[in-house]
Amino acid sequence: MWFKNLREDIKAAKANDPAARNGFEILLTYSGVHALSWHRVAYFFHKIKLKLLARIISQTARFFTGVEIHPAAKIEGGVFIDHGSGVVIGETAEVHKGTVIYQGVTLGGTGKERGKRHPTIMENVTLSAGAKVLGGFTVGKGAKIGAGAVVLKEVPPYATVVGVPGRIVRIRDPESPEHKNAAIAIAALNAEAKAEAAALREEAAKAAAKAYLENEAEKKKR
Ligand SMILES: CC(C)(COP(=O)(O)OP(=O)(O)OC[C@H]1O[C@@H](n2cnc3c(N)ncnc32)[C@H](O)[C@@H]1OP(=O)(O)O)[C@@H](O)C(=O)NCCC(=O)NCCS
Repeated sequence: MWFKNLREDIKAAKANDPAARNGFEILLTYSGVHALSWHRVAYFFHKIKLKLLARIISQTARFFTGVEIHPAAKIEGGVFIDHGSGVVIGETAEVHKGTVIYQGVTLGGTGKERGKRHPTIMENVTLSAGAKVLGGFTVGKGAKIGAGAVVLKEVPPYATVVGVPGRIVRIRDPESPEHKNAAIAIAALNAEAKAEAAALREEAAKAAAKAYLENEAEKKKR
């Protein structure tokens, strides 16, 4: 499980960082990837009630990576923390796969809530540099939180939120007609390309068969 998550984290780093060259380099030098791997060890010890040991591991990881993750936070494999420095993820936070977290992001509480007081970040969310997401609400999948935004309430899927306090400036809905039309156009192009490839293959097969028959006829003549 630990290795599977690590592989997914490395894949996420490759997919999201144009500067990433290969998996080995990411494994050796990406502090965000290291922070998540340490966190999974801390999470294990927290689960089996060795909470002090879990805390020591999490603080050691913070010292080396600049990323502080509470041992109880739930983070799926395939999350990418870019640059690492100054990221804080609270106890009851949840982060789903495909999410990208830049430096200076806080997934925290407002100080007014008890119980679930840190956010749940759904799949493929972008948390830009310095964004603060505070409270026990959900940030919907595919949402983008702008650099320096302070988000204090629920964010719908595919929304872009910017500013202080955070406000929605756009919702890119994959169910919208533009998205659907684009998907249909791509599917049509693919179907056209497939039909063209099949026609070319058939033509090539016919030409090969003709050449073979001509060759055989030539042999018989001799
Ligand atoms: C929010 C963000 C992800 C862009 O999302 P988007 O959906 O493409 O949004 P747009 O760029 O079209 O911007 C939408 C509006 O929000 C504004 N806006 C965008 N980012 C903003 C920010 N961080 N703070 C305040 N306003 C912002 C734009 O000016 C635009 O306003 P307008 O409609 O009045 O012109 C991006 O602007 C951002 O903040 N990126 C930071 C990425 C980062 O952290 N990089 C660090 C790498 S080290």
